[in-house]
Amino acid sequence: MSLDSDSYEGKSAQEVLQWAINTYGKKAGLASSFGMEDMVLIDMISRLDGELTIFTLDTGRLHEETYEIMERARNKYGIQLKIYFPEQAETESLVREKGLFSFRDSIDNRKECCFVRKVKPLNRALGELSAWITGLRRDQNVTRTDVPKVAEDRDRPQMLKINPLADWSFEQVTDYIKANKVPVNALHSQNFPSIGCSPCTRSVAEGEDIRAGRWWWENPEHKECGLHSANRR
Ligand code: ADX
Ligand code: SF4
Repeated sequence: MSLDSDSYEGKSAQEVLQWAINTYGKKAGLASSFGMEDMVLIDMISRLDGELTIFTLDTGRLHEETYEIMERARNKYGIQLKIYFPEQAETESLVREKGLFSFRDSIDNRKECCFVRKVKPLNRALGELSAWITGLRRDQNVTRTDVPKVAEDRDRPQMLKINPLADWSFEQVTDYIKANKVPVNALHSQNFPSIGCSPCTRSVAEGEDIRAGRWWWENPEHKECGLHSANRR
């Protein structure tokens, strides 16, 4: 795949999204966890011309509030949401062999759970697409400082990975939400700036990093679940 990644860096989030719609249509898919960034992207997409795919990975361990914002977004924006679940036999054998909280025992066990519940369903979703869009931002974590706006996905060389908000700050995200009255997950107002699975996410204290509540027992350099292992330009 030959692509001049740098040529997209000066484009706005809306310009990048419109380009993705024009180029790939429904073969471009927004991966949405219905966090703040993804809600900004859904709102932007609803104001652009054309359509793309919107999908989510339901790990089976999400917060009730996440299902509520999913449903609210489906209704408000008329989204035909594609929901992908983990593979049944694999999930059953994981919990039968290791119990319901194996991810607390070691990083390997945590990555195994993320692999079964998130990464494999993601790979199934991406099998139907040519490009995927995420809400990744560079200032979210040390593992994300080099996220490009548009580039080949290093984990999946046949796929393009598009991160329209790569250069956005947290304040830009909250300002957009306020200005455009975008609905958000109710947990955000209970000090959950970043939301993943319920047993692996806690609220953060004043002054703590926005991802401090994700897998809070691990060091920042480990805080990726495998959805985004190669985030470099
Ligand atoms: S994670 O890898 O640590 O869970 P994070 O919560 O920061 O990721 O979200 C970054 C981006 O990954 C989101 O903006 C979204 O594009 C994608 N993503 C994360 N979780 C999901 C999910 N459950 N379903 C679909 N996309 C997701
Ligand atoms: Fe499993 Fe936690 Fe990863 Fe969710 S975030 S898939 S519960 S380890």
